Amino acid sequence: MRSLSWSSLLLLLCFLWSATCHVSVNGKVYAILGSNATIKCTDVTLAWIREITWQREVGGKTESFITYTTETGPRSLTWLASRVKFLADGSIEIPNVTLDDEGTYKQVITMLPSMVLECKIYLQVQVFPIIHVVPELDPVMVGCLEETVGICIARAAKPPAAIDWRTGDLAYSVEESETRHENGTVTTQSVLKMIPEWKINGINVTCIVLQEDAMSDIQTERTVTIRNIHCK
Ligand SMILES: *[C@@H]1O[C@H](CO)[C@@H](O)[C@H](O)[C@H]1NC(C)=O
Ligand SMILES: *[C@@H]1O[C@H](CO)[C@@H](O)[C@H](O)[C@H]1NC(C)=O
Ligand SMILES: *[C@@H]1O[C@H](CO)[C@@H](O)[C@H](O)[C@H]1NC(C)=O
Ligand SMILES: *[C@@H]1O[C@H](CO)[C@@H](O)[C@H](O)[C@H]1NC(C)=O
Repeated sequence: MRSLSWSSLLLLLCFLWSATCHVSVNGKVYAILGSNATIKCTDVTLAWIREITWQREVGGKTESFITYTTETGPRSLTWLASRVKFLADGSIEIPNVTLDDEGTYKQVITMLPSMVLECKIYLQVQVFPIIHVVPELDPVMVGCLEETVGICIARAAKPPAAIDWRTGDLAYSVEESETRHENGTVTTQSVLKMIPEWKINGINVTCIVLQEDAMSDIQTERTVTIRNIHCK
């Protein structure tokens, strides 16, 4: 989280002035479903730390789940503490991230003499879509009105996937629909429509699936062959 590094500087200034200060920073951490996520605020000098408390915001309430002091080491306050690993630098690691782990975590660092650094970090979980590309199987007669020639589905993705098509220089249009699932994932379906000219039978078209605002902007391409055009 490079954006948070300025907070170290602020704290350093604060330390040098021996002032009372309260620094708040907000950040976002991305993690891929099933990976180990490290939630880290900033590099702080452990020697300055009097206390670290980790909190989680659930349903508008803030709950402290781990507290650390140099004397006691990390202490569990709720069951949530068993879900995470307290690391030597004061950050936490969540192994095998699930959708339930998504949310706001807060690290409150109290330092000597009287400085408090509060970091609010949103853990955003990324779920890769399961992609299916299928040619339309229902036969279409050669004609001059657009018909469905293929379907691309990006199932249960988070954040939702965007679908685009590549058809060479042939004109096309799409009908897109989204289904939101209870667990926060979204299935996107894109129906490819083209004018059913005989020349498009047997050509390959490519579906391009892209997830943005995620840990990795992964773009996946799948090719499908149009096969449903028939002559009268
Ligand atoms: C994730 O954490 C688990 C448990 O702490 C560990 O066994 C595993 O090796 C870690 N995986 C990676 C990719 O670091
Ligand atoms: C990770 O979590 C999933 C879902 O809870 C579970 O099915 C899987 O076995 C877990 N993997 C590991 C390595 O713990
Ligand atoms: C989310 O819900 C959808 C629809 O029920 C399901 O297909 C998908 O596997 C779920 N994803 C996770 C990560 O639990
Ligand atoms: C279309 O794709 C198929 C399978 O990927 C391939 O075998 C075929 O040669 C491609 N056809 C053209 C015209 O590129």
